[in-house]
Amino acid sequence: MNNILVAGATGNLGNRICRELVGRGANVTAIVRPSTDAGKLDALKELGVQVVEADLASKEAITAACAGIDCVVSALAGLREVIIDIQKNILDGAIAAGVQRFIPSDFCTDYTALLPGMNRNFDLRREFREYLDSTVIKSSSVFNGAFADILQYNTPVLNLKDKSVGYWGEKAGWKLDFTTMDNTAAFTAEVALDADAPRDLQIASFQVSPDDIQELVKKATDQTFSLQRLSGLEDFALYLKKQRAENPAGENELYARWQQGQYMYSMFTTHHDKLANDRYDSVQWTGALEFIKTVV
Ligand SMILES: NC(=O)c1ccc[n+]([C@@H]2O[C@H](COP(=O)([O-])OP(=O)(O)OC[C@H]3O[C@@H](n4cnc5c(N)ncnc54)[C@H](OP(=O)(O)O)[C@@H]3O)[C@@H](O)[C@H]2O)c1
Repeated sequence: MNNILVAGATGNLGNRICRELVGRGANVTAIVRPSTDAGKLDALKELGVQVVEADLASKEAITAACAGIDCVVSALAGLREVIIDIQKNILDGAIAAGVQRFIPSDFCTDYTALLPGMNRNFDLRREFREYLDSTVIKSSSVFNGAFADILQYNTPVLNLKDKSVGYWGEKAGWKLDFTTMDNTAAFTAEVALDADAPRDLQIASFQVSPDDIQELVKKATDQTFSLQRLSGLEDFALYLKKQRAENPAGENELYARWQQGQYMYSMFTTHHDKLANDRYDSVQWTGALEFIKTVV
């Protein structure tokens, strides 16, 4: 049960998933496109990962790479061409090879409770999910909320330059889901090796509200960041709609500004209430204060 094929293995998350899988004794194969940077392939080989170059548009090439594989993990990142077209090819190739399980590149907030149209990147995942669920393969999605790393990037939720913590609506006390990339990778490796894993797994290294973040920053630095209500949630949604309409170039950008806003909107609209954190003993969850201390 431990022959795992990883797509997107050269990426930030994919590489960490490979490392975690190898550490758990799995036989790991990375399927990469021919144009992938050679340095990234060397890094994978050093981990003990077998690298297979394949035309990801060719179902036959993918089927050949999937011979003997128990589970395919996708950590690909991209827009329609990647999340729909390439993931579909990989899925179809895997099914043709008799692979039993598939983990799609969800790795975001659990969007199943969100309305379509509010987050472009989630809509692509939802569209792929419908296709995935129409096939015979058993699948599991890992929902990690936001990568905790975003707390370093001066988002409105924690702006280190302005020394502010922001929120929308009346949600200063609303819990937001954050998971470190390493925790996400370790958990995903466990899911890949767990034939009984359920369809959906919500996780979070920590769940903190804007109120909590203000308090954590105070604990970590003894500074009081200002807590700012940014707007109502409905106004935020309207603003994002307008931004999207006025910036069509963003349709071809993975992290267009309005898409980043859509992510924030999603985080303030839904959160994880069925955490699967305790499913595997091996995952050591990073605590909120521990993480905040590394960014402030
Ligand atoms: N929840 C969050 O806050 C959050 C934040 C960031 C990312 N994510 C999600 O985490 C997952 C992994 O993201 P990441 O940041 O690790 O991505 P990344 O570092 O940008 O890596 C992307 C991977 O996808 C591959 N790829 C991209 N376009 C491709 C194409 N056209 N054909 C074939 N392969 C292609 C890349 O291969 P090459 O090396 O060949 O380019 C690479 O292996 C994605 O689902 C992403 O949306 C979540």
